[in-house]
Amino acid sequence: MSPQSATPNILISAAGEDADWKKAMVERLPDANVATTDDDYDPATIDHALFWKQPQGLIKTLPNLKAIFSLGAGVDHVVSSPSLPADIPVIRLEDAGMADQMVQYHLYAALHFMRDFDVYAAQQAKATWTQHDVARISKCRVGVMGLGALGAAVASALSNLGFAVSGWSRSMKAIDGITTYAGEDAFAEFLGQSDILICLLPRTPETEGLLNSAALSHLPKRAAIINAARGAMINEADLLRALDTGHLRGAFLDVAVTEPLPESHPFWDHPKIRITPHIAAATRIEEAVDQIAQNIHRMARGETPSGLVDRQSGY
Ligand code: NAP
Ligand code: GLV
Repeated sequence: MSPQSATPNILISAAGEDADWKKAMVERLPDANVATTDDDYDPATIDHALFWKQPQGLIKTLPNLKAIFSLGAGVDHVVSSPSLPADIPVIRLEDAGMADQMVQYHLYAALHFMRDFDVYAAQQAKATWTQHDVARISKCRVGVMGLGALGAAVASALSNLGFAVSGWSRSMKAIDGITTYAGEDAFAEFLGQSDILICLLPRTPETEGLLNSAALSHLPKRAAIINAARGAMINEADLLRALDTGHLRGAFLDVAVTEPLPESHPFWDHPKIRITPHIAAATRIEEAVDQIAQNIHRMARGETPSGLVDRQSGY
């Protein structure tokens, strides 16, 4: 990358949290000019944008952008914008305090199924007092789709707890204690040994709708799904069918195709589905502004920023 001007001119659009981000960014980069979309700013001067679910059309008002930083791990809200020029670097957050939270979320959700809390919730609804054997944790096979900043942390934590963990990614990974698979050719085999399937993939054209009936049919009978990535990765009608036929025992979902999940959506009162409102892992502002500031400095020195999105693969 070629060196950039020393004083960054930053615009923030952070889905209602602009003031917090502006305050943190000003503290971290006191020499920068930092504005939110509520401020009086000259669009032509803006060279760095910090975006989370920015309004449609905002990108095309900024003719001199040199980089867009996502204020989350996902970049789908940026790379899906039709007005995004092909040559602007898009940079995602790497962990930024989210890995710990993802680990907590997935420990809870995996234990929900492994310790039959779904079965006991159904029993409670019928005032039924029936005890079931406790399975050995080492016999419970967890498959983690996506072994990036978040998936790798979740896979390792579940393995350390005693689950038999495997992981699937685009390129082959080596992680202590985890059986790894890579690429489309290994997908069915990976699914076939996932009693609990965890989805921590980015949303890209390749991952959208990936978990459809064909994929779900490869899961062992009575497998469970945990999705805290993006709703669009699961075909919701196919998921409902797999739950209703009894092929799947349950789903723990933090994300949905439409968010907020509409009041009339069948997920809300499905007995085999647990819903949380996209809270699995929130960006920690302090960690995030530090990463962003370091990347602004790297780019100013002509270096490649960490977390640079490959625009071809979309993450
Ligand atoms: P990341 O570091 O970019 O990792 C992505 C992983 O997915 C990598 O291992 C990558 O493989 C793999 N992958 C991508 N495309 C694939 C494909 N077509 N087939 C197989 N594997 C593929 O992402 P991250 O930081 O871990 O975050 C993952 C996602 O979590 C985010 O994109 C976001 O959507 C979601 N998220 C949700 C919340 C929430 O609160 N619910 C919070 C934060 C993030 P390679 O390693 O080979 O590249
Ligand atoms: C949250 O969903 C993120 O992508 O950080």
